[in-house]
Amino acid sequence: MTRSSSMALALLVLAASALSLLPASLAVTSPYVRPATRPTLPLLQDDDDDGQTPQQVHISIVGPDKMRVTWITDDDAPAIVEYGTTPGQYPLSATGSTTTYSYLLYHSGKIHDAVIGPLQPSTTYYYRCSSNPSREFSFRTPPATLPFKFVIVGDFGQTGWTASTLKHIAAADYDALLLPGDLSYADLIQTRWDSFGRLVQPLASARPWMVTEGNHEIEKIPVVQPEPFRAYNARWRMPYDAGATPSGDNLYYSFDVAGGAVHVLMLGSYTDYAAGTAQYQWLRRDLAAVDRRKTAFVVALVHAPWYNSNRAHQGEGDAMRGAMEELLRGARVDAVFAGHVHAYERFARVYGGKEDPCGPVHVTIGDGGNREGLAEKYIDPQPSISAFREASFGHGRLEVVNATHALWTWHRNDDDQAVVADQVWITSLAANPACNKNKNNMRTVNIQN
Ligand SMILES: [Fe+2]
Repeated sequence: MTRSSSMALALLVLAASALSLLPASLAVTSPYVRPATRPTLPLLQDDDDDGQTPQQVHISIVGPDKMRVTWITDDDAPAIVEYGTTPGQYPLSATGSTTTYSYLLYHSGKIHDAVIGPLQPSTTYYYRCSSNPSREFSFRTPPATLPFKFVIVGDFGQTGWTASTLKHIAAADYDALLLPGDLSYADLIQTRWDSFGRLVQPLASARPWMVTEGNHEIEKIPVVQPEPFRAYNARWRMPYDAGATPSGDNLYYSFDVAGGAVHVLMLGSYTDYAAGTAQYQWLRRDLAAVDRRKTAFVVALVHAPWYNSNRAHQGEGDAMRGAMEELLRGARVDAVFAGHVHAYERFARVYGGKEDPCGPVHVTIGDGGNREGLAEKYIDPQPSISAFREASFGHGRLEVVNATHALWTWHRNDDDQAVVADQVWITSLAANPACNKNKNNMRTVNIQN
């Protein structure tokens, strides 16, 4: 190890130990001057010439050893996925189901999904959809143990900056992508959902993409289109009916990775969350079932941030925070990632608006590259609980290294290079004795109400 890398490591360890103690003087507003905005990409056109060519393929985790494959064909085609571990050979298969939806004058293609498995961990599988020989896809299953690498980014859209973000993600070695809402920015134009599916297919067919909804997924029009989330729920079905605590609703769910070492909560900012609602009651049950003696890290995703010093969307996450923050702190949730605000911001460990060594680190990562542009106006002076903020596009990576440490890095789209512009070690709250005084009660840590 070189002297400079030794010093860097020492600084990172120092940062980890000091994370909950950041003084106000370390609140940083980045001086980075970003490049100009980039236009929306032309819609990626349908290349399904025979009506049965699979397109918009994406995969999602279902339980510890299964994967859901979702794809679309223009015309009727069998909902079958054939797969194996050798290219061109598919000894295994699973048959799922097909749905469609209509939205005003738009009629979707045939949306198929099938759950395949059991699968071996850390293994590359080759697969084809609808028995169509023209396209072979492949993915790597996540590891069954730590370390585990997430990419986290929200508010994608489909602009030149989205393409830049996707290119940087594609160059990363990661196990699963977490998306805290606002996917396509279709904004009622349903062909944009199809275009988004084609844009992300190279990545989303190769690694699981786990998403929760943002406001751009609602797409509700009074009287003529009263059902919210119609396209989102039809196209991006998540494992709400799997896992230890099924939620029964595609708008919020949870799942485990790395053999249960990491528990991920995908919460719904745009469905009821107040005490007594179905989501609240599910969250209580879900957190009570997490055994922090076995689960090193618990992370949560929401769309509207609960902490935000950007002038954009001020206060929009406050009601949800008021309803659920106590539950998350009680379960010693380690980090909360949000989207919605088109910028990057990392907070200290917080609870109730103040620094709290047993509260989660909050991060806003709504900077995938959408057409609405960046949120550049901040509240000044920067609140002391805000550790770093910058209005640039980019993506985040959370590498859970072991049962006590996870490394969070934010990669800014610096022109066309991905540059690490912020990083911090996050230590597991389950491993912090000061936050878990009653060790015998760790199974249902501090779920009091
Ligand atoms: Fe949003």
